[in-house]
Amino acid sequence: VILDTSTLDRHDPLRSFADQFVPIEPGLIYLDGNSLGRMPLDAVEVLRRFETSWGSNLIRSWNDEWIGLPTRLAALLAPIIGADPAGVTFCDSTSVNLFKLASAAMEVQAGRLEIVSESSNFRSNLYVLSRLGELKVSDDPVAAISEKTALVSLSLVSFQSGERFDLDEVTRIAHQHDAMVLWDLSHAAGVVPVNLASSNADLAVGCSYKYLNGGPGAPAWLYVRPELIERLRSPIQGWFGDRRSFEFLSEYEPATGIDRFQAGTPPILSLAAIEPGLKMIAEAGIEQIWEKAQKLRAYFLWRIGKLAEIEPLKPAAFGSHVSVRHPAAWQVCQALIAANVVPDFRTPDLIRFGFSPLTTSFADVDEAVYRLEYILNERIWEQFPAAKSGVT
Ligand SMILES: Cc1ncc(COP(=O)(O)O)c(C=O)c1O
Repeated sequence: VILDTSTLDRHDPLRSFADQFVPIEPGLIYLDGNSLGRMPLDAVEVLRRFETSWGSNLIRSWNDEWIGLPTRLAALLAPIIGADPAGVTFCDSTSVNLFKLASAAMEVQAGRLEIVSESSNFRSNLYVLSRLGELKVSDDPVAAISEKTALVSLSLVSFQSGERFDLDEVTRIAHQHDAMVLWDLSHAAGVVPVNLASSNADLAVGCSYKYLNGGPGAPAWLYVRPELIERLRSPIQGWFGDRRSFEFLSEYEPATGIDRFQAGTPPILSLAAIEPGLKMIAEAGIEQIWEKAQKLRAYFLWRIGKLAEIEPLKPAAFGSHVSVRHPAAWQVCQALIAANVVPDFRTPDLIRFGFSPLTTSFADVDEAVYRLEYILNERIWEQFPAAKSGVT
């Protein structure tokens, strides 16, 4: 039974969280939190405090508060991804972390050269992996796993279709063939409950600026199953991954824990801005967040059901965004942005609508579909150029 939006919003246990974010202009409907999550009010405060910690306290702040920041963030993220905090750290970008972990895995899987991935995986991941082994890209990666496979690397939720793999099942099948598994949880962490520990996943990476609300270019995170840490080595032997960073010894010796996957000086400003988002997710509860995500998605699909020209992708298992196909997707997307609805466009013909349960209301979804309907019915999108430009 689909209720009216005011009833749905009134009964939403997460409704008050939206007030903990920097307000956006009235009438703007932001459905792109799967690309860049909104800014927590506390993040403004965190950044303001740098006037003292950097401005006045200067280098003393390293010891006072900065040096342990990746570890503090790891402790906050760990329960959100079902991981032992000893296996988690924050550093670099997702692409760089994928490179570090995939390289380390290929080194211990000597004798096997094959890396299995999926055709629609995020291109950056495929670019990185193709440099590290014989990349086998398949529409059915699970069937492609064999005794030749060193590493399986997939995105849990597809950035394009929103389809979600079965974390436990794929990991189990890979392990049956003695292959290691490296998951990209960029479109899952903070919205879909996952349990890296119980799935036995070997490795994972994810970015912090989507559902974790960490800010543009926020450092990514990485995970290594704790029992594996001592066997794996980062291909980047930087001083922050060294066991005794500040002794400046002539020989590199990897740190004993997950810190061995750090490379250089952590970007403290951007790391600090991640903390408020993680705290909010912990407070809201990942199960509660996922429950609302599914309701928002279901409500959206129900509302767009009557629109003839578009075709929503409806995979059986999914994350928290819905991709909708339209032959003039770029133009429709531009028309939506002009109408103060922000989704995004993904080549060749998809418009992605992301639902961030901490900030998106049912009324937002309703109004967004109303404006979409108008743009399609009145063919408003024809007024927008077909040529693409800028960040999409
Ligand atoms: C699945 C996936 N992986 C990785 C990234 C981003 O990687 P990076 O942090 O290197 O920019 C994205 C960005 O949208 C993504 O969708």
